[in-house]
Amino acid sequence: MEKKEVEEQEQEQVVNPWQVSAKDGGKIDYDKLIDQFGCQRLDQSLIDRVHRLTSRPPHVFLRRGVFFAHRDFNEILDAYERGEKFYLYTGRGPSSESLHLGHLIPFMFTKYLQDAFKVPLVIQLTDDEKCMWKNLSVEESQRLARENAKDIIACGFDVSRTFIFCDFDYVGGAFYKNMVKVAKCVTYNKAVGIFGFTGEDHIGKISFPPVQAVPSFPSSFPHLFSGKDSLRCLIPCAIDQDPYFRMTRDVAPRLGYNKPALIESSFFPALQGETGKMSASDPNSAIYVTDSAKDIKNKINRYAFSGGQDSIEKHRQYGANLEVDIPVKYLGFFLEDDAELEHIRNEYGAGGMLTGEVKQRLIQVLSELVERHRTARAAVTDEMVDAFMAVRPLPNMFN
Ligand code: TYM
Ligand code: TRP
Repeated sequence: MEKKEVEEQEQEQVVNPWQVSAKDGGKIDYDKLIDQFGCQRLDQSLIDRVHRLTSRPPHVFLRRGVFFAHRDFNEILDAYERGEKFYLYTGRGPSSESLHLGHLIPFMFTKYLQDAFKVPLVIQLTDDEKCMWKNLSVEESQRLARENAKDIIACGFDVSRTFIFCDFDYVGGAFYKNMVKVAKCVTYNKAVGIFGFTGEDHIGKISFPPVQAVPSFPSSFPHLFSGKDSLRCLIPCAIDQDPYFRMTRDVAPRLGYNKPALIESSFFPALQGETGKMSASDPNSAIYVTDSAKDIKNKINRYAFSGGQDSIEKHRQYGANLEVDIPVKYLGFFLEDDAELEHIRNEYGAGGMLTGEVKQRLIQVLSELVERHRTARAAVTDEMVDAFMAVRPLPNMFN
């Protein structure tokens, strides 16, 4: 890395598909990201609209602002209101044996959107990407993709509306034609500007972005959307993936395609604090869906950054600093009961409740979540994986 780049990284926050770090050990500034990336804030009026259109209470992740930014989500809702459906697209780069809690966020939310709007969903597993970036063999990336598919299926997707594919198996035909069309619209300079590639990066990396771009276009899936070229696409993901879709939205009109819409989440933070995202590359920063109840207890007790005071006396006097407290932050994602969350925030913030008690409640909430996931995953057979991944029409996907 150039010296100048290192200095910049120390000073400024960095958010891209490969790195998430806040400025000088502080917190990620999400307002600034919205300005920098040029996305829109997801405001209360949009959330109310989702409530009205789907006749069900908005997901906790919407109510609590976990999904906080969007691009043209209002247009998706306008079209839906006129009776036009859309499809959902999300994905996963299979770089580890199992998912961590941060990865579950877009998938849990996508499952809610699929149920609420009754729409089809495509899920891309970028085994090619991880093979190129993570020094994994082709075969190992493919194996991880299938393992990850089981965790994804365990989130409860409806097989009659969901197509999961691995790039190594599916890329070709209409999908590949779209990749070439996209590639022709993006200069090398443009790719460097968006993704920060350098002369040392191999050309596989530079050629990858069209692979993640084209599932945004219905014509990439002739077995699903033949004759439905104007169907709109909505992509739920965390905001680290935004660069890919800025590029996609930039080229879409030149190809005569609709721009995909996005709904974007903040990051489920690392145990150590909100300076970065929970990441699979640092096992002590992450809670995996395969962790045992004992692992969860140990990780939270040892590593979860606390906003409590160092002594009980001081804590009773000043209360906890909720702004930096990871257990409270995690409860905000996964404790569904609004009243209980409010109670904990008030008591803990005022010093009535101790860090140990809050951690205790968090351990309970997360152990239950992970246990539910484990049971669901154990029920996913190889035949079910094949069924989700079969290239097939989905005749009832809009019903
Ligand atoms: P990957 O595997 O790094 O991440 C998968 C999804 O999880 C989100 N994510 C998080 N969300 C909240 N908190 C975190 N700590 C956290 N870490 C990861 C990611 O934003 C992503 O939504 N290149 C992609 C795979 C991909 C994709 C897509 C993702 C292909 N097509 C379309 C989203 C939409 C990747 O490596 O994701
Ligand atoms: N989020 C990925 C990870 O660290 C990073 C990643 C590597 C990535 N290569 C990528 C994301 C290419 C998007 C595209 O696990």
